Amino acid sequence: MDHDKTLPVPLEKTPAQRAVSWHSRTRVLLSAFFVLAAVQSARIVSNLAGEYSNAAVNIPLHAEEALTKCRLLEVPPGPSPSFNSRTQSDRFVPGTKATLITNATVWTGRADGLEVVNGDILLDGGIIQRVGDVDSDVLARYADITRVDAKGQWVSPGIVDLHSHLGVDNVPELRGASDTNSRKGPVLPWLRALDGLNTRDEAYKLSVSGGVTTSLVLPGSANAIGGQGAVIKLRPTADRAPTGMLLENPYEKNSSVYDPTVNFRFRQMKHACGENPDRVYSSTRMDILWAFREAYEHARKLKVEQDNYCAKATRGDWTDLGDYPEDLQWEALVDVLRGRMKVHTHCYETVDLDDLVRVTNEFQFQIAAFHHAHETYLVPDTLKSAYGQCTASSRCGAPAAALFATKARYKRESFRGSEFAPRILAANGIRVVMKSDHPVLDSRFLLGEAQQAYYYGLPHNLALAAITTTPAGVLGLDHRVGYVKEGTTDPILSADVVLWDSHPLALGATPQQVWIDGIPQLSSPHTITKPAVLQHVPKVPDFDEEAKETLEYDGLPPLEPKKSLSNTVVFANVSSVIVRSADSPYGISEIASVQGAGRLFAVVQGGKLVCVDSPESECVRSIMSGSAVTYDIVDLKGGSISPGLTTVGSPLGLGEIFSETSTQDGNVEDTLSSSIPGLAGGSNALIRAVDGLQFSTRHALLAYRAGVTAGIVAPSTSGFLAGLNTAFATGAKHKLDDGAIVQSAGAVHVSIHPVGTPSVSTQIAALRHLLLNQTDGESGKWFEKIRKGKTPLVISAESADVIATLISLKSEVEETLDLELPLKFTLVGGREAHLLAKQIGEAGIGVIFKQLRPFPKEWEARRILPGLPLSEKSQVVALLEYNVTVGIGTDIAERARNTRFDVAWAAIESDGLISKEQAIALASTNVEKLLGIERSVDDAELVATRGGGFLEYGKVVGVVSPRRGVVDLL
Ligand SMILES: *[C@@H]1O[C@H](CO)[C@@H](O)[C@H](O)[C@H]1NC(C)=O
Ligand SMILES: *[C@@H]1O[C@H](CO)[C@@H](O)[C@H](O)[C@H]1NC(C)=O
Ligand SMILES: *[C@@H]1O[C@H](CO)[C@@H](O)[C@H](O)[C@H]1NC(C)=O
Repeated sequence: MDHDKTLPVPLEKTPAQRAVSWHSRTRVLLSAFFVLAAVQSARIVSNLAGEYSNAAVNIPLHAEEALTKCRLLEVPPGPSPSFNSRTQSDRFVPGTKATLITNATVWTGRADGLEVVNGDILLDGGIIQRVGDVDSDVLARYADITRVDAKGQWVSPGIVDLHSHLGVDNVPELRGASDTNSRKGPVLPWLRALDGLNTRDEAYKLSVSGGVTTSLVLPGSANAIGGQGAVIKLRPTADRAPTGMLLENPYEKNSSVYDPTVNFRFRQMKHACGENPDRVYSSTRMDILWAFREAYEHARKLKVEQDNYCAKATRGDWTDLGDYPEDLQWEALVDVLRGRMKVHTHCYETVDLDDLVRVTNEFQFQIAAFHHAHETYLVPDTLKSAYGQCTASSRCGAPAAALFATKARYKRESFRGSEFAPRILAANGIRVVMKSDHPVLDSRFLLGEAQQAYYYGLPHNLALAAITTTPAGVLGLDHRVGYVKEGTTDPILSADVVLWDSHPLALGATPQQVWIDGIPQLSSPHTITKPAVLQHVPKVPDFDEEAKETLEYDGLPPLEPKKSLSNTVVFANVSSVIVRSADSPYGISEIASVQGAGRLFAVVQGGKLVCVDSPESECVRSIMSGSAVTYDIVDLKGGSISPGLTTVGSPLGLGEIFSETSTQDGNVEDTLSSSIPGLAGGSNALIRAVDGLQFSTRHALLAYRAGVTAGIVAPSTSGFLAGLNTAFATGAKHKLDDGAIVQSAGAVHVSIHPVGTPSVSTQIAALRHLLLNQTDGESGKWFEKIRKGKTPLVISAESADVIATLISLKSEVEETLDLELPLKFTLVGGREAHLLAKQIGEAGIGVIFKQLRPFPKEWEARRILPGLPLSEKSQVVALLEYNVTVGIGTDIAERARNTRFDVAWAAIESDGLISKEQAIALASTNVEKLLGIERSVDDAELVATRGGGFLEYGKVVGVVSPRRGVVDLL
């Protein structure tokens, strides 16, 4: 291919194109190189001419260019040798003041994440200049420096998210805003995420506020080979353009000149196997694997052609050589084969991991990381058998595993996903990365994934490394990001650091400030002072047995609870007992607690708590010293006893794998656009969730084991009228099991959302009609109860406009019908409810948030109240201030198990406004009340945790069930 230099040069250039454009910029140097190259090849040619003295010496006109391209093939990937002598970042923004963070506790990332340095950090020129003791003569150089007193608090490197779709899968989600997946074929290595990167995504500032400073933005997983990712810094740039966000900008800026003859910058490539590409191209796994092999065979041939060409050209053997073989569509895959492109493979199941590993060995290329990688912990040896040639400049070893902490079972591929995967992989020497797949998880809370991985057994140093140093290394960019270290002996790092308000692995840890390229990103952060106990690496339980069992059962360990052997159970060394109590403000009250050396024992008989007292007390002694009673003793080691929680908001209870229709109850027909068949009751039918309940699902049992002992679920629908909810026991075996149904129906659920047709106003008209006018059948009967003010009407809504309309509708109906009691309305969702907190409070409407930490994914929910550090108040506090009854649920079944951590987070974030009792009420008594479920005080479960409180990192070891008269030991 001839090079026409008047053609625009593509942004992310091929090595050859880089050489050409570099040529035009540094002509003087380059011509020196060409002279040398030409002399060398002339020598070879003359040698050859000497051997075959009759042969004609024929050097083509493009020889210089071709030899440059050949020479570039030898350039190693990674930083240039002079990188470490830089004194300023190529991303430095002129005018940025130097910053001295004093008295910081610095997690540097070095020594396997075990090094902690107490001291100062000097940021200048967009890089980390000093860490530890900063000499006064160094400081004397700065006339004007910003000083930040860290007051001994933690500083970490900025978070590096190895898997994000920020800017390509945009929020608010609009039809014109998804640039994640191309549907043009299964193999598209030539596509670049950068070409779709939108700098207006609302999520950048949110993710930064959670400490994320660098993200690998990847194309989606609809293709076997989806295209090239872009590594970006998340701060806004003066040029407002995607190119400016690139961590390694291809243009020359400031002092940094990218010279492709010296070093080659790693690029990043997305691959995907399994369900996603299969689904899109209606192919089988066999078809997808062939797509890989066909593509790599194509690339391999091109590479061989190039290598042969260059062998001849550098020998000076130009006979019949023609043009240098290259192809813009395939150069990226050739670079994979040359070890200069990092491969990121979305891959879940063993069959897929094994397939891809075979492909790497057949075509000899490395995979940087398997992403999602739910079954990697079951087959570490498969990962270790992936192709991995070690050279001085590229990393060797097995592919890393980039994981979610507890998000699993959402499709078959993730059914065996385990919370113990990070620790098991680490124990097998596989590098572990926690990633967001933003917006699948809001990357603002990627830190939370590291916290969960830590809670379930990943060592603390590796948990923090999993979102900093490890992903930086996997990207081949740990000379720029991922550490807080100074550039005297180490690579000189970008000034991307986070000052936290607690130890980063402590629940609720929130940035006080985030620097990117030395620039503070939070203009007026809202911060609170956290208790001293949160400033240390938190204590976490031992899950060794569970992890072992998970492996024994190939990822599906039995989860059914086991009853205690004796009718009497003594919980020893309890630090706090909280129970339901009808006459306390939130229906929850702490009845006993000890500090320090005191000891409390709690005795349970027949599933009922009979006493809580010191071990010397009559009640406890009569059990423990008498021989009449056999009992089980459970040492809680300072843990607590608390009310079990109730999950709401997700379809938990109505199915298992929610992308598989055969595993779930399914969706109720939308009665506004089609009709329920007459046989099922026609348009006046009211579908009952209780009829579709499924028990012993892994979601439910895992929730149970995490202290979520009940669930409330409404029928699923994408339409207007869902039907009647139901409350059930998450630990029950089947519907006819003892105590399985807590209450068969409590409230009617409807939804008001913008779906196009029927319009929001049509949906409101339907609701008005149902409320004002007597209708027949089951629905008429329940709306009559709603009119009597007894039964809540539960309305799924997010938008402030819809909520305002509902508030008006409520008073319209109350006035028109002159109702005795006010209507009971409960909003579910409510991400814009904070805008109407006062009016909602005055109208006596309750709100259940399905996202404790809101994400503005949809247009109707774009005006969120984000909470610390972006807003002083959280959405929960904003409503509580107007005496709104607030509940906390979740929109995702697998997140139900995290409810205790969510309510704990709400309390921590409230800076003392929300008490322990109130926090528990948010996900128990409050949600029940708001959804028409009545539980008697003596009837509800209690949860015992060991080694820490229920709202801390204690481990749930027992569930006391008065309904069933038993204690389950977990
Ligand atoms: C660092 O901060 C801690 C906590 O506020 C404080 O006790 C200590 O005295 C400070 N050290 C220095 C050197 O300022
Ligand atoms: C519905 O009820 C309202 C208020 O009682 C009444 O004005 C209206 O005529 C009724 N509409 C129908 C269609 O019955
Ligand atoms: C909330 O309730 C408390 C206690 O009843 C009351 O003192 C306060 O004024 C109420 N706040 C609002 C905004 O209504």
